[in-house]
Amino acid sequence: METSTNIKSSVATPTNFWNDLPEAFTVLAPMEGVTDIVFRRVIMLAGRPNVFFTEFTNVSSYASEKGRDNALERLDVAENERPIVAQIWGKNPEHFAKTAEALEGLGFSGLDINMGCPDKHVNKAGGGAAMIKTPDLAVECIKQAKSATRLPVSVKTRLGYTYIKEYPDWLKLLLEQDLAALTVHLRTKKEMSKVAAHYELIPEIIKLRDEIAPQTKLIINGDIEDLAQIKKLHQENPGVDGFMIGRGVFKNPFCFKKGTDGKSYVATKQELLNLLSYHLDIFDQRRAELEQRGSKYSYEPLKHFYKIYVNNFDGAKELRTKLMDCKSTAEVREIIAPLIKK
Ligand SMILES: Cc1cc2nc3c(=O)[nH]c(=O)nc-3n(C[C@H](O)[C@H](O)[C@H](O)COP(=O)(O)O)c2cc1C
Repeated sequence: METSTNIKSSVATPTNFWNDLPEAFTVLAPMEGVTDIVFRRVIMLAGRPNVFFTEFTNVSSYASEKGRDNALERLDVAENERPIVAQIWGKNPEHFAKTAEALEGLGFSGLDINMGCPDKHVNKAGGGAAMIKTPDLAVECIKQAKSATRLPVSVKTRLGYTYIKEYPDWLKLLLEQDLAALTVHLRTKKEMSKVAAHYELIPEIIKLRDEIAPQTKLIINGDIEDLAQIKKLHQENPGVDGFMIGRGVFKNPFCFKKGTDGKSYVATKQELLNLLSYHLDIFDQRRAELEQRGSKYSYEPLKHFYKIYVNNFDGAKELRTKLMDCKSTAEVREIIAPLIKK
């Protein structure tokens, strides 16, 4: 498995890769506990998006001796994943600078600051969506990150903390920071993911971007599931540059691969089970690699992924129940082996 250790040697002078992407480019959303190097490799095999993001990494962990190894582990990246953006979060401007400075050397194409995470612990620590309530600090963190790296710096955020009406002021402030890209998850922090994404606001957000920062790429996120939906959203809103899919990948891991009629590819049972088998292989490789480094990669969280592959075919429910009882990748392999045609 290629990791950051073999990427450092080939780090080139960074360019603003956001300017080299196709129209209506696609992005796999950063998802904590999901989009690590293993799952990104699975999606790369299924059909890659134009841009990958890492899970988010805390800048104060990176800046501390105690937390650095863990932070670096989260920032492992393979050569062929580029363009890939490292997402970071925190509230300490100095730590943003320190982390930003290191990311270029780790092989990333860009750096993104999370200003939208609704998680209680993250918000209590002053990061994620809590930044919406401390706009001066948010601006300072962006400034420090930008001054410490040549990588293009972007932000991913929500419409506001409590009220939708917060979005014009909040997005205006962010757009004034000359960001390379801005991703807007079309909900407030308070709304979590409980209401439909506010697509009706897209035209107003495009207008703000065009007025304040036409050079900033605008990415829309929330409830997008496949290429057909992206095509429709783009036709309706040609000012949007990119489209980010998060949970849609759980419904269809092949969602970034082109199928027929502009739709996402719909995989067969065989293809889904082959992809699961690949995930198991990459998981085992990663575990061995981390064990060599004195770290762990637990089996239990892997179980959450089984429903992605064992879904939408006859007998899927029964098979899933069996897989959930397994205690190792070897046990899963034994069960799925007779179902995979060579
Ligand atoms: C399990 C999970 C973990 C997430 N972790 C992150 C994260 O680390 N950084 C981030 O910016 N957003 C994170 N998000 C939010 C997603 O990136 C995305 O904004 C959200 O799921 C809405 O998009 P969707 O409707 O396409 O899923 C996470 C979402 C989920 C479901």
